[in-house]
Amino acid sequence: MHSFVYQGMPSRVVFGAGKLYSLADEIERLGARRALILTTPQQQALGQRIADLLGERSAGIYPKAVMHVPIEVAQAARAEAARLNADCCVAIGGGSTIGLGKAIAMDSGLPILAIPTTYAGSEMTTIYGLTENRLKKTGHDPRVLPKTVIYDPELIVSLPAGISAASGMNAMAHAVEALYAKDANPVISLMAEESIRALAGSLPEVVRTPQDVQARGRSLYGAWLAGICLGSVGMAIHHKLCHTLGGTFNLPHAQAHAAVLPHAAHYNHKAAAEPLARAARALGGQHAEEVGSLLFELNHQLGIEQALSAIGLPDDGPAETARIACASPYYNPRPFEQEAIESMLTRALHGHPPA
Ligand SMILES: NC(=O)c1ccc[n+]([C@@H]2O[C@H](COP(=O)([O-])OP(=O)(O)OC[C@H]3O[C@@H](n4cnc5c(N)ncnc54)[C@H](O)[C@@H]3O)[C@@H](O)[C@H]2O)c1
Repeated sequence: MHSFVYQGMPSRVVFGAGKLYSLADEIERLGARRALILTTPQQQALGQRIADLLGERSAGIYPKAVMHVPIEVAQAARAEAARLNADCCVAIGGGSTIGLGKAIAMDSGLPILAIPTTYAGSEMTTIYGLTENRLKKTGHDPRVLPKTVIYDPELIVSLPAGISAASGMNAMAHAVEALYAKDANPVISLMAEESIRALAGSLPEVVRTPQDVQARGRSLYGAWLAGICLGSVGMAIHHKLCHTLGGTFNLPHAQAHAAVLPHAAHYNHKAAAEPLARAARALGGQHAEEVGSLLFELNHQLGIEQALSAIGLPDDGPAETARIACASPYYNPRPFEQEAIESMLTRALHGHPPA
């Protein structure tokens, strides 16, 4: 047995269909009396539902969360929280809304109660992001970890099938990379394997029948575990490439993750043979060398666009991404090799399977 370090994350999770209705009790448990409700403009009606559920404990709704937390939006939200004398934030939505809650928490220390409605996993991490002058900075701060998280599968049925598929594969990427992380440990690896199994087993049904609460529950369970993986151990080449594709070429976050994952996993299949054999088994195969094609097949089954060219990567994107990634690599079981990375991204550019 290898030696390892395992650090548990202090958050309370309430999971199940209809659990939204425990919100008032959970706010009380936090000792809060004036909750500021955060949403995107698109989910404002959901914010109103929350305000109605909370009654007097609602201090107001701030429906202005947008992708990547621009600093101006964060500052305006912080000012609103102070003006309303809020003593906690209820962030209901995807990673963008929870990210806005984190921006408030890191400044004021207000506790966050998160109600995720996508599979992104931000609610399980101490990672925050803020965008200033078109540059996104990320960091860790224990204050931004939500104190309570309510996962209610009924709230995610409205996420369109295509976005659900990409968001689910974004979660899958956290779990796959956790298996071969530099600081991997047996507890997180168990969660990662279970996450991959739950996501692979439920996402096809989610895409076929987005209203199926059972399938939504299983996929949300997988995404929860994947979020713990992301928050607990370091990520590797796949996340480095996706951050570069998002930051330099503005590729959509979840779709880029979904399309790159089969290639990144295949890149590591020899150097991380044992961890990736676990991933293969969770995907219905046996051997590490199958992981890339199993993930590619799953993407295909989910109707995910796998050609990076179709989501905005130009022809010179693979070379540029490989160059930037190799200039400041993350830990990875197989070293970053510029030529091999360029060639795998060229395959991804055209939507070819990993090889
Ligand atoms: N800090 C972290 O640990 C962490 C982890 C993962 C992602 N993120 C960040 O989160 C952001 C991406 O989050 P995301 O992928 O969840 O997207 P998102 O939060 O931007 O949501 C995408 C769109 O879907 C809508 N939406 C969300 N849930 C819905 C539902 N159930 N029904 C209908 N519409 C719904 C939202 O209103 C929004 O318009 C990125 O900025 C990413 O960097 C951060």
